[in-house]
Amino acid sequence: MALPLLFLFSLLLQAPLHAQALQNITLGSTLTTQGPNASRISPSGEFAFGFRPSDADASVYLLAVSFDKITSKTVVWYANTNTTLPVGSQLQLTPGGVLSLQDPAGTEIWNPRVTNADHAAMLDTGNFVLYAKDGSIKWQSFEHPTDTILPSQELPKGSVLQSRLMDNDYSAGRFQLSVERDGNLRFYTLAVPYTVAVSSLFRYDPPYWDSHTGGNGSSLVFNTTGSIYYTTNSGRQINITSETLDSPADFYQRATLDADGVFRQYVYPKKAAQISGLNTEWKVMDVLPRNFCRAAAVETGSGACGFNSYCSFSFNTSKSVECECPPNYSFIDNERKYKGCKQDFPPHSCGLDDTESTQNFKLLPMNNINWPFGDYERYSPIGEDSCQRLCLTDCFCVAAVYYNSSCWKKRSPLSNGMEGDILGSVFIKVPRTDIPGSQSASNSNRWRKEKRYWIIGSSLLLGGSALVILYFGSYRVIGRKKPAQIQSMSPEALPLRAFTYKEIEKATDGFREELGSGASGIVYKGQLEDEFGTGIAVKKIDKMLQESEKEFAIEVQTIGRTFHRNLVRLLGFCTQGKERLLVYELMTSGSLNGFLFCGTRPTWNLRVQVALGLARGLLYLHEECNTQIIHCDIKPQNILLDENLVAKISDFGLAKLLRTNQTQTNTGIRGTRGYVAPEWFKNIGITSKVDVYSFGVILLEIVCCRRNVEPETADEEQAILTYWANDCYRSGRLDLLVKGDDEAIFNIKKVERFVAVALWCLQEEPTMRPSMLKVTQMLDGSVPIPTPPDPSSFISSLQ
Ligand SMILES: *[C@@H]1O[C@H](CO)[C@@H](O)[C@H](O)[C@H]1NC(C)=O
Ligand SMILES: *[C@@H]1O[C@H](CO)[C@@H](O)[C@H](O)[C@H]1NC(C)=O
Ligand SMILES: *[C@@H]1O[C@H](CO)[C@@H](O)[C@H](O)[C@H]1NC(C)=O
Ligand SMILES: *[C@@H]1O[C@H](CO)[C@@H](O)[C@H](O)[C@H]1NC(C)=O
Ligand SMILES: *[C@@H]1O[C@H](CO)[C@@H](O)[C@H](O)[C@H]1NC(C)=O
Ligand SMILES: *[C@@H]1O[C@H](CO)[C@@H](O)[C@H](O)[C@H]1NC(C)=O
Ligand SMILES: *[C@@H]1O[C@H](CO)[C@@H](O)[C@H](O)[C@H]1NC(C)=O
Ligand SMILES: *[C@@H]1O[C@H](CO)[C@@H](O)[C@H](O)[C@H]1NC(C)=O
Ligand SMILES: *[C@@H]1O[C@H](CO)[C@@H](O)[C@H](O)[C@H]1NC(C)=O
Repeated sequence: MALPLLFLFSLLLQAPLHAQALQNITLGSTLTTQGPNASRISPSGEFAFGFRPSDADASVYLLAVSFDKITSKTVVWYANTNTTLPVGSQLQLTPGGVLSLQDPAGTEIWNPRVTNADHAAMLDTGNFVLYAKDGSIKWQSFEHPTDTILPSQELPKGSVLQSRLMDNDYSAGRFQLSVERDGNLRFYTLAVPYTVAVSSLFRYDPPYWDSHTGGNGSSLVFNTTGSIYYTTNSGRQINITSETLDSPADFYQRATLDADGVFRQYVYPKKAAQISGLNTEWKVMDVLPRNFCRAAAVETGSGACGFNSYCSFSFNTSKSVECECPPNYSFIDNERKYKGCKQDFPPHSCGLDDTESTQNFKLLPMNNINWPFGDYERYSPIGEDSCQRLCLTDCFCVAAVYYNSSCWKKRSPLSNGMEGDILGSVFIKVPRTDIPGSQSASNSNRWRKEKRYWIIGSSLLLGGSALVILYFGSYRVIGRKKPAQIQSMSPEALPLRAFTYKEIEKATDGFREELGSGASGIVYKGQLEDEFGTGIAVKKIDKMLQESEKEFAIEVQTIGRTFHRNLVRLLGFCTQGKERLLVYELMTSGSLNGFLFCGTRPTWNLRVQVALGLARGLLYLHEECNTQIIHCDIKPQNILLDENLVAKISDFGLAKLLRTNQTQTNTGIRGTRGYVAPEWFKNIGITSKVDVYSFGVILLEIVCCRRNVEPETADEEQAILTYWANDCYRSGRLDLLVKGDDEAIFNIKKVERFVAVALWCLQEEPTMRPSMLKVTQMLDGSVPIPTPPDPSSFISSLQ
């Protein structure tokens, strides 16, 4: 890995040389991908034109105009080459006055189709201009914009802005802003994927924003005062953005049709750019359209987020477009969410009879999410139950909507999904998981076996109701005795299974294999004798306070109702005499402890995913489930990984179950040395911020792949990670934290972000710590991260 590091070094070397770059490109001169001739800067030094490493892959280049004084060197124009440029590419202004971009083999990749140019200049406005000998303009980047406009730029009729595919992928994206020749300003979604040239993109009608100016509109103006408007023939101005700046000269400004389809006006204080190394982010002043998800749902095409997904956007909070998959669907490509989501389960085969269908699938209510198009059948008037049954028993149906005594069935793929004020109820079809055995049936053999059981079941239970058969058919093997079901009101909640002690004894082979032990009891490995030999982890709680079976069952039910991709699922429980056991799904990849600290270092991306998953799980516990759950003992041993290395929090809800008073002080400390928040040692109440603190510690451990406390470390300063990380952060030496981890070094900006978030979480004062919602937003970069104050005291937490 010496090569990339060397490369990084050469990039650093380049920076000061930029300052000497010649201003104009004269006849016969050449720009190269590396070295002093990589770019030319404007007289004020604010803009640069030339080669710059691509954001996604620093070994390839982009020919671009960018803000040169801002640490992130934001790109405002780029040559639409449809491909990235390898090292050795060149831009030449030939003696004949032709500007030509060539790959290392000398093949022309791009040129602005101009001859007899005399020289080219990067102007202080951000405009890159080719001049003729007489000083007249032959070509300018302001007339050939990509996705961004700048103050003083004006787009006449016939101009378009085309978004890039992703923030760091400059290939042609999915949205277009068009100053139409017919006198209207319109925003379009485009058909993807496409392989044809930009001039023949397929646009979906209707546009997702329209100025409706009839034939009267003329051009789009970005005034130097900071206002952006569309002018009409009569001189009227239609404001595109409505926020204004008091002193526009103090800010860098730009407006970009971003990869997510939102047109945003950004500002950046020039003062911040003068402090070297300060990585301030652009602030969003205004956006268009403000109801983006709804607007972008234009019937044809997938909508803002790809098929089978849904979109949420809030102008008031994050101003960023979030794409999500419905339950039991996952992103086709996590890095490229716009590709949409796929079902995680075998499709509803049309060979199933109605009973099999209802046995294998269920409808899950989607809260405030809808896919407004794609209905293929409608029934009216009809009851909600019948509506659900019609969808459940129809192999074409993937979702149903019930509203005002009408039922609509939707087919695959779901499109234009969005969060918003939805009328009526929306249901999505997912596999049943309440019958261990039906959940992951992926081959017809399994289906057939299950059917056989069902037949046996039904002949045994002559006259029993169909529902009972459905529930118990596949429990036959060990569930001969009717297990008590705890039914809950929430349709999402799965019935928890009540096990007998004997059953568990058998499933764990007499509690033979210990998986681990914690404050609340020992955990044993087991296997159910169901169709699939479902692996289980049984927690035998030994410090249970006096509690009736009923109280226990109620608490357990609360835990059972809590489920999320990033939480370990509770399958059932046992309460018999003094025994109290909890039965969880088995996590096959162990705990975060083993993942991080034993064996080889997991890849950076994997660690990032684990950190984000953990944050989402905590967010759910704190803010999204019915009753807030404070975990109180977040530590690597309690974070488990499933076979896909998805992080899942275990042991949640136990604080309550174990009857520790959550507002208690000294005596009731739950939690583990090195991870507990300082307030446990003070006479103040315990809030969800104790978990935020523990998360901060673990986030640092994930970034650095080492334990918080390593007393044997040679360098005493490094013995406690939380101190050391703070020192490194303050001294701008985050590279020391991830020394030897090339992947992390290459993602040093993300490392910096994660460490900053961790330092916020580690604030001594609980109210200073962010909520988990804020944490997730800061981690994924959707909100800027202010510089964290010095957490000042870690001492108390280490006692
Ligand atoms: C660069 O080009 C601009 C525009 O033609 C011109 O005004 C300026 O004098 C040139 N600068 C140099 C150093 O040649
Ligand atoms: C940079 O360009 C100038 C003028 O075209 C030329 O004299 C110089 O040799 C070039 N430097 C390098 C390192 O290519
Ligand atoms: C753009 O790239 C695609 C795929 O790499 C290729 O098929 C297409 O011809 C290219 N278009 C142009 C205009 O170069
Ligand atoms: C266009 O301008 C004409 C004359 O000013 C006006 O009557 C008409 O209503 C305008 N159309 C629209 C759509 O604004
Ligand atoms: C910018 O706004 C000012 C004041 O509103 C106005 O005088 C000027 O003409 C505008 N510039 C352009 C290019 O429209
Ligand atoms: C448009 O914006 C300008 C300032 O940018 C403001 O003075 C004017 O009132 C706005 N017009 C409308 C119709 O909102
Ligand atoms: C956003 O903020 C505005 C003004 O503060 C308020 O009127 C509006 O209701 C808010 N919208 C949402 C969705 O919260
Ligand atoms: C469906 O989702 C539930 C809850 O997230 C999960 O337990 C189950 O394993 C999933 N089933 C499939 C087949 O992915
Ligand atoms: C409900 O449906 C009835 C009959 O189809 C219709 O007349 C009525 O307007 C609908 N109400 C709403 C609120 O959509």
